Amino acid sequence: MEDELLGLKNEASTALAAVENKSGLEDFRVKYLGRKGLFSAVMRKLGQVSKEDRPRIGKLANQIKKDLESDFSAQLAALDSQTLTTQMTGIDSTLPGRHVPFGKLHPVSQIMDEVCGIFEGLGFAVAEGPDVETDFYNFEALNIPPHHPARDMHDTFYVDDKVLLRTHTSPMQARIMEKERPPLRVIAPGKVYRCDSDITHTPMFHQVEGFLVDRKISFADLKGVLSVFVAKMFDSKTPIRFRPSFFPFTEPSAEIDIGCVICHGKGCRVCKHTGWLEILGAGLIDPEVFHRVGYDSEEFSGFAFGLGIERIAMLKYGINDIRLYYENDLRFLTQF
Ligand code: PHE
Repeated sequence: MEDELLGLKNEASTALAAVENKSGLEDFRVKYLGRKGLFSAVMRKLGQVSKEDRPRIGKLANQIKKDLESDFSAQLAALDSQTLTTQMTGIDSTLPGRHVPFGKLHPVSQIMDEVCGIFEGLGFAVAEGPDVETDFYNFEALNIPPHHPARDMHDTFYVDDKVLLRTHTSPMQARIMEKERPPLRVIAPGKVYRCDSDITHTPMFHQVEGFLVDRKISFADLKGVLSVFVAKMFDSKTPIRFRPSFFPFTEPSAEIDIGCVICHGKGCRVCKHTGWLEILGAGLIDPEVFHRVGYDSEEFSGFAFGLGIERIAMLKYGINDIRLYYENDLRFLTQF
Protein backbone atom coordinates (compact mmCIF):
# COMPACT_ATOMS: atom_id res chain seq x y z
CA MET A 1 0.00 0.00 0.00
CA GLU A 2 2.82 2.35 0.92
CA ASP A 3 4.56 1.61 -2.38
CA GLU A 4 1.36 2.11 -4.26
CA LEU A 5 0.89 5.54 -2.64
CA LEU A 6 4.46 6.62 -3.35
CA GLY A 7 4.16 5.35 -6.94
CA LEU A 8 0.98 7.35 -7.41
CA LYS A 9 2.66 10.42 -5.99
CA ASN A 10 5.54 10.19 -8.48
CA GLU A 11 3.22 9.52 -11.37
CA ALA A 12 0.99 12.47 -10.43
CA SER A 13 3.94 14.84 -9.97
CA THR A 14 5.26 13.98 -13.41
CA ALA A 15 1.82 14.39 -14.96
CA LEU A 16 1.29 17.74 -13.27
CA ALA A 17 4.64 19.07 -14.46
CA ALA A 18 3.67 18.14 -18.02
CA VAL A 19 0.35 20.04 -17.94
CA GLU A 20 0.43 22.90 -20.44
CA ASN A 21 -2.89 24.62 -20.19
CA LYS A 22 -6.01 24.96 -18.11
CA SER A 23 -7.97 22.18 -19.73
CA GLY A 24 -4.99 19.84 -19.18
CA LEU A 25 -4.99 20.92 -15.58
CA GLU A 26 -8.66 20.10 -15.21
CA ASP A 27 -8.06 16.64 -16.72
CA PHE A 28 -5.30 16.15 -14.19
CA ARG A 29 -7.58 17.14 -11.32
CA VAL A 30 -10.29 14.71 -12.36
CA LYS A 31 -7.88 11.86 -12.99
CA TYR A 32 -5.88 12.10 -9.75
CA LEU A 33 -7.70 14.25 -7.21
CA GLY A 34 -11.35 13.83 -8.15
CA ARG A 35 -13.87 11.86 -6.14
CA LYS A 36 -13.56 8.95 -8.56
CA GLY A 37 -9.86 9.58 -9.17
CA LEU A 38 -6.85 7.34 -8.66
CA PHE A 39 -6.00 8.77 -5.28
CA SER A 40 -9.47 8.12 -3.87
CA ALA A 41 -9.27 4.60 -5.25
CA VAL A 42 -6.07 3.91 -3.30
CA MET A 43 -7.52 5.50 -0.19
CA ARG A 44 -10.49 3.16 -0.27
CA LYS A 45 -8.05 0.30 0.27
CA LEU A 46 -6.93 1.78 3.61
CA GLY A 47 -9.41 -0.49 5.37
CA GLN A 48 -7.45 -3.56 4.31
CA VAL A 49 -4.25 -2.36 6.00
CA SER A 50 -3.41 -3.94 9.34
CA LYS A 51 -4.35 -2.06 12.50
CA GLU A 52 -0.69 -1.32 13.46
CA ASP A 53 0.19 0.09 10.06
CA ARG A 54 -2.97 2.03 9.49
CA PRO A 55 -2.04 5.27 11.41
CA ARG A 56 1.30 5.54 9.62
CA ILE A 57 -0.11 4.82 6.16
CA GLY A 58 -3.06 7.10 6.81
CA LYS A 59 -0.74 9.96 7.76
CA LEU A 60 1.38 9.35 4.67
CA ALA A 61 -1.69 9.33 2.44
CA ASN A 62 -2.93 12.63 3.89
CA GLN A 63 0.47 14.21 3.42
CA ILE A 64 0.63 13.10 -0.20
CA LYS A 65 -2.86 14.43 -0.89
CA LYS A 66 -1.99 17.79 0.68
CA ASP A 67 1.21 18.04 -1.35
CA LEU A 68 -0.58 17.19 -4.58
CA GLU A 69 -3.28 19.74 -3.91
CA SER A 70 -0.81 22.49 -3.15
CA ASP A 71 1.22 21.64 -6.29
CA PHE A 72 -2.03 21.77 -8.22
CA SER A 73 -2.84 25.28 -6.90
CA ALA A 74 0.65 26.48 -7.68
CA GLN A 75 0.37 25.19 -11.24
CA LEU A 76 -3.03 26.90 -11.62
CA ALA A 77 -1.57 30.23 -10.48
CA ALA A 78 1.37 29.81 -12.85
CA LEU A 79 -0.95 29.16 -15.79
CA ASP A 80 -3.09 32.19 -14.87
CA SER A 81 -0.14 34.52 -14.78
CA GLN A 82 1.15 33.05 -18.05
CA THR A 83 -2.22 33.84 -19.70
CA LEU A 84 -2.08 37.38 -18.37
CA THR A 85 1.43 37.87 -19.70
CA THR A 86 0.34 36.67 -23.14
CA GLN A 87 -2.63 39.04 -23.08
CA MET A 88 -0.44 41.90 -21.94
CA THR A 89 2.12 41.48 -24.70
CA GLY A 90 2.19 44.69 -26.69
CA ILE A 91 0.37 46.64 -23.98
CA ASP A 92 2.26 49.41 -22.27
CA SER A 93 1.17 49.02 -18.67
CA THR A 94 2.85 52.29 -17.68
CA LEU A 95 0.35 54.33 -19.74
CA PRO A 96 -2.23 56.21 -17.67
CA GLY A 97 -5.68 54.56 -17.48
CA ARG A 98 -8.47 55.47 -19.85
CA HIS A 99 -10.61 58.27 -18.44
CA VAL A 100 -14.28 57.42 -17.98
CA PRO A 101 -16.22 60.66 -17.69
CA PHE A 102 -18.74 61.00 -14.88
CA GLY A 103 -22.27 61.90 -15.89
CA LYS A 104 -24.18 64.51 -13.94
CA LEU A 105 -27.63 65.97 -13.63
CA HIS A 106 -29.03 68.00 -16.50
CA PRO A 107 -29.13 71.72 -15.63
CA VAL A 108 -32.94 71.64 -15.74
CA SER A 109 -32.96 68.79 -13.19
CA GLN A 110 -30.47 70.67 -11.03
CA ILE A 111 -32.66 73.79 -10.92
CA MET A 112 -35.78 71.66 -10.42
CA ASP A 113 -34.16 70.01 -7.38
CA GLU A 114 -33.07 73.37 -6.04
CA VAL A 115 -36.52 74.97 -6.43
CA CYS A 116 -38.29 71.98 -4.86
CA GLY A 117 -35.72 71.90 -2.05
CA ILE A 118 -36.46 75.52 -1.13
CA PHE A 119 -40.23 74.92 -0.93
CA GLU A 120 -39.79 71.64 0.91
CA GLY A 121 -37.76 73.62 3.44
CA LEU A 122 -40.84 75.83 3.89
CA GLY A 123 -42.99 72.79 4.65
CA PHE A 124 -44.50 72.14 1.21
CA ALA A 125 -45.21 68.54 0.25
CA VAL A 126 -44.36 67.35 -3.28
CA ALA A 127 -47.05 65.83 -5.54
CA GLU A 128 -46.85 64.66 -9.14
CA GLY A 129 -49.62 64.24 -11.67
CA PRO A 130 -50.17 63.02 -15.23
CA ASP A 131 -48.73 64.73 -18.33
CA VAL A 132 -51.70 63.49 -20.37
CA GLU A 133 -54.56 65.38 -18.77
CA THR A 134 -58.26 65.87 -19.32
CA ASP A 135 -59.76 69.09 -20.55
CA PHE A 136 -61.62 69.17 -17.24
CA TYR A 137 -58.56 69.45 -14.97
CA ASN A 138 -56.45 71.50 -17.35
CA PHE A 139 -59.18 74.07 -18.04
CA GLU A 140 -62.70 73.66 -16.68
CA ALA A 141 -61.84 73.01 -13.04
CA LEU A 142 -59.63 76.11 -13.25
CA ASN A 143 -62.49 78.33 -14.29
CA ILE A 144 -61.59 78.23 -17.99
CA PRO A 145 -64.80 77.05 -19.70
CA PRO A 146 -64.93 76.12 -23.42
CA HIS A 147 -64.42 79.13 -25.70
CA HIS A 148 -62.85 81.15 -22.89
CA PRO A 149 -60.30 83.50 -24.51
CA ALA A 150 -57.65 82.34 -22.00
CA ARG A 151 -57.51 79.04 -23.89
CA ASP A 152 -55.86 80.83 -26.79
CA MET A 153 -52.77 81.56 -24.69
CA HIS A 154 -52.17 77.89 -24.09
CA ASP A 155 -51.39 76.55 -27.61
CA THR A 156 -52.71 73.17 -26.59
CA PHE A 157 -51.68 69.79 -28.02
CA TYR A 158 -54.94 67.82 -28.11
CA VAL A 159 -55.06 64.02 -27.97
CA ASP A 160 -58.78 64.09 -28.68
CA ASP A 161 -61.75 66.33 -27.81
CA LYS A 162 -61.45 65.87 -24.07
CA VAL A 163 -57.85 64.75 -23.60
CA LEU A 164 -54.72 66.85 -24.02
CA LEU A 165 -51.12 67.30 -22.96
CA ARG A 166 -51.27 69.53 -19.91
CA THR A 167 -50.34 73.11 -20.76
CA HIS A 168 -49.44 73.96 -17.17
CA THR A 169 -49.09 72.27 -13.76
CA SER A 170 -52.18 74.09 -12.40
CA PRO A 171 -54.46 71.05 -12.93
CA MET A 172 -52.70 69.64 -9.87
CA GLN A 173 -54.43 72.30 -7.78
CA ALA A 174 -57.81 70.83 -8.68
CA ARG A 175 -56.64 67.21 -8.43
CA ILE A 176 -55.24 67.62 -4.92
CA MET A 177 -57.99 69.88 -3.55
CA GLU A 178 -60.63 67.48 -4.78
CA LYS A 179 -59.05 64.65 -2.77
CA GLU A 180 -57.91 66.45 0.38
CA ARG A 181 -59.08 69.00 2.87
CA PRO A 182 -57.20 72.13 4.00
CA PRO A 183 -54.74 72.98 5.40
CA LEU A 184 -52.73 72.20 2.25
CA ARG A 185 -49.19 73.17 1.33
CA VAL A 186 -48.19 71.49 -1.91
CA ILE A 187 -45.77 71.88 -4.80
CA ALA A 188 -46.26 69.98 -8.04
CA PRO A 189 -43.22 69.83 -10.34
CA GLY A 190 -43.42 68.38 -13.85
CA LYS A 191 -43.39 68.65 -17.62
CA VAL A 192 -45.86 70.79 -19.52
CA TYR A 193 -46.49 71.12 -23.26
CA ARG A 194 -47.35 73.96 -25.58
CA CYS A 195 -47.31 74.07 -29.34
CA ASP A 196 -44.71 76.81 -29.53
CA SER A 197 -41.03 76.95 -30.48
CA ASP A 198 -38.54 79.82 -30.72
CA ILE A 199 -35.55 81.05 -28.72
CA THR A 200 -37.62 81.47 -25.56
CA HIS A 201 -40.10 78.58 -26.05
CA THR A 202 -39.79 74.81 -26.45
CA PRO A 203 -42.83 72.55 -27.03
CA MET A 204 -42.05 70.80 -23.73
CA PHE A 205 -40.80 72.59 -20.67
CA HIS A 206 -40.96 72.27 -16.88
CA GLN A 207 -43.03 74.07 -14.29
CA VAL A 208 -43.41 73.96 -10.56
CA GLU A 209 -46.86 74.72 -9.25
CA GLY A 210 -47.24 75.75 -5.64
CA PHE A 211 -50.34 76.34 -3.59
CA LEU A 212 -51.37 76.80 0.00
CA VAL A 213 -54.92 76.67 1.36
CA ASP A 214 -55.93 77.37 4.95
CA ARG A 215 -58.02 79.81 6.96
CA LYS A 216 -57.21 83.56 6.68
CA ILE A 217 -54.56 83.28 3.97
CA SER A 218 -53.88 86.65 2.37
CA PHE A 219 -51.75 88.19 -0.34
CA ALA A 220 -49.19 89.00 2.38
CA ASP A 221 -48.59 85.25 2.86
CA LEU A 222 -47.99 84.84 -0.87
CA LYS A 223 -45.59 87.75 -0.83
CA GLY A 224 -43.73 86.33 2.17
CA VAL A 225 -43.27 82.87 0.65
CA LEU A 226 -42.17 84.19 -2.74
CA SER A 227 -39.75 86.68 -1.18
CA VAL A 228 -38.06 83.86 0.72
CA PHE A 229 -37.92 81.81 -2.48
CA VAL A 230 -36.29 84.61 -4.51
CA ALA A 231 -33.79 85.38 -1.74
CA LYS A 232 -32.71 81.73 -1.60
CA MET A 233 -32.77 81.06 -5.33
CA PHE A 234 -30.95 84.21 -6.45
CA ASP A 235 -29.49 86.35 -3.70
CA SER A 236 -30.92 88.00 -0.63
CA LYS A 237 -30.53 91.50 -2.11
CA THR A 238 -32.49 90.73 -5.31
CA PRO A 239 -35.44 93.15 -5.47
CA ILE A 240 -38.89 91.73 -6.22
CA ARG A 241 -42.05 93.41 -7.53
CA PHE A 242 -45.66 92.35 -8.05
CA ARG A 243 -47.36 93.49 -11.24
CA PRO A 244 -51.16 93.18 -11.64
CA SER A 245 -52.11 90.48 -14.12
CA PHE A 246 -54.93 88.09 -14.94
CA PHE A 247 -55.45 84.32 -14.61
CA PRO A 248 -58.96 82.83 -14.61
CA PHE A 249 -58.11 80.69 -11.55
CA THR A 250 -56.67 83.42 -9.31
CA GLU A 251 -58.12 86.72 -8.13
CA PRO A 252 -56.35 89.04 -7.68
CA SER A 253 -53.53 87.83 -9.94
CA ALA A 254 -50.00 89.05 -10.32
CA GLU A 255 -46.87 88.47 -12.30
CA ILE A 256 -43.75 88.61 -10.22
CA ASP A 257 -40.56 90.26 -11.47
CA ILE A 258 -37.10 90.27 -9.97
CA GLY A 259 -34.44 92.93 -10.51
CA CYS A 260 -32.40 91.94 -13.56
CA VAL A 261 -29.66 89.56 -12.44
CA ILE A 262 -27.49 90.53 -15.41
CA CYS A 263 -27.43 94.36 -15.21
CA HIS A 264 -28.78 94.78 -11.67
CA GLY A 265 -31.47 97.19 -12.84
CA LYS A 266 -29.35 99.40 -15.08
CA GLY A 267 -31.02 98.10 -18.22
CA CYS A 268 -29.67 95.54 -20.69
CA ARG A 269 -30.72 93.33 -23.59
CA VAL A 270 -31.85 90.45 -21.36
CA CYS A 271 -34.34 92.62 -19.41
CA LYS A 272 -35.18 94.62 -22.55
CA HIS A 273 -33.90 97.74 -20.78
CA THR A 274 -36.60 97.60 -18.11
CA GLY A 275 -34.30 96.46 -15.28
CA TRP A 276 -36.84 93.72 -14.41
CA LEU A 277 -37.30 90.05 -15.31
CA GLU A 278 -40.59 88.20 -15.04
CA ILE A 279 -40.19 84.92 -13.14
CA LEU A 280 -43.63 83.63 -12.25
CA GLY A 281 -47.41 84.02 -12.20
CA ALA A 282 -49.41 83.89 -9.00
CA GLY A 283 -52.47 85.05 -7.12
CA LEU A 284 -55.09 84.22 -4.52
CA ILE A 285 -57.09 81.16 -5.52
CA ASP A 286 -60.35 82.22 -7.17
CA PRO A 287 -63.47 81.31 -5.10
CA GLU A 288 -64.82 79.74 -8.29
CA VAL A 289 -62.04 77.10 -8.15
CA PHE A 290 -62.91 76.35 -4.51
CA HIS A 291 -66.57 75.89 -5.40
CA ARG A 292 -65.70 73.33 -8.06
CA VAL A 293 -63.81 71.19 -5.55
CA GLY A 294 -66.42 71.66 -2.82
CA TYR A 295 -64.56 74.02 -0.48
CA ASP A 296 -66.39 76.83 1.29
CA SER A 297 -64.71 80.01 0.03
CA GLU A 298 -65.98 81.90 3.09
CA GLU A 299 -64.06 79.53 5.34
CA PHE A 300 -60.91 78.91 3.31
CA SER A 301 -58.59 81.05 1.26
CA GLY A 302 -55.27 80.34 -0.37
CA PHE A 303 -52.67 81.34 -2.89
CA ALA A 304 -51.15 79.63 -5.92
CA PHE A 305 -48.15 80.28 -8.10
CA GLY A 306 -46.54 78.70 -11.13
CA LEU A 307 -42.97 79.11 -12.28
CA GLY A 308 -41.04 77.95 -15.32
CA ILE A 309 -37.85 76.03 -14.56
CA GLU A 310 -36.07 76.66 -17.86
CA ARG A 311 -36.76 80.35 -17.46
CA ILE A 312 -35.32 80.45 -13.93
CA ALA A 313 -32.27 78.54 -15.14
CA MET A 314 -31.81 80.94 -18.07
CA LEU A 315 -31.90 83.91 -15.73
CA LYS A 316 -29.64 82.29 -13.18
CA TYR A 317 -27.00 81.27 -15.71
CA GLY A 318 -27.46 84.06 -18.30
CA ILE A 319 -28.52 81.68 -21.11
CA ASN A 320 -30.20 83.40 -24.05
CA ASP A 321 -31.58 80.45 -26.07
CA ILE A 322 -33.88 77.95 -24.34
CA ARG A 323 -33.36 75.36 -27.10
CA LEU A 324 -29.80 74.76 -25.89
CA TYR A 325 -31.22 72.68 -23.03
CA TYR A 326 -32.57 70.10 -25.40
CA GLU A 327 -29.88 69.76 -28.06
CA ASN A 328 -27.79 67.37 -25.96
CA ASP A 329 -24.59 69.20 -26.79
CA LEU A 330 -22.12 68.16 -24.09
CA ARG A 331 -20.09 71.35 -24.59
CA PHE A 332 -23.13 73.19 -23.26
CA LEU A 333 -24.38 70.67 -20.68
CA THR A 334 -21.04 70.07 -18.94
CA GLN A 335 -20.78 73.73 -17.97
CA PHE A 336 -23.26 73.31 -15.15
N1 PHE B 1 -50.54 78.22 -14.74
C1 PHE B 1 -50.09 79.57 -15.04
C2 PHE B 1 -49.29 79.53 -16.34
O1 PHE B 1 -48.83 78.48 -16.73
C3 PHE B 1 -49.25 80.12 -13.92
C4 PHE B 1 -50.00 80.32 -12.65
C5 PHE B 1 -50.04 79.31 -11.70
C6 PHE B 1 -50.63 81.51 -12.36
C7 PHE B 1 -50.73 79.49 -10.51
C8 PHE B 1 -51.29 81.70 -11.20
C9 PHE B 1 -51.35 80.70 -10.27
O2 PHE B 1 -49.08 80.53 -16.97
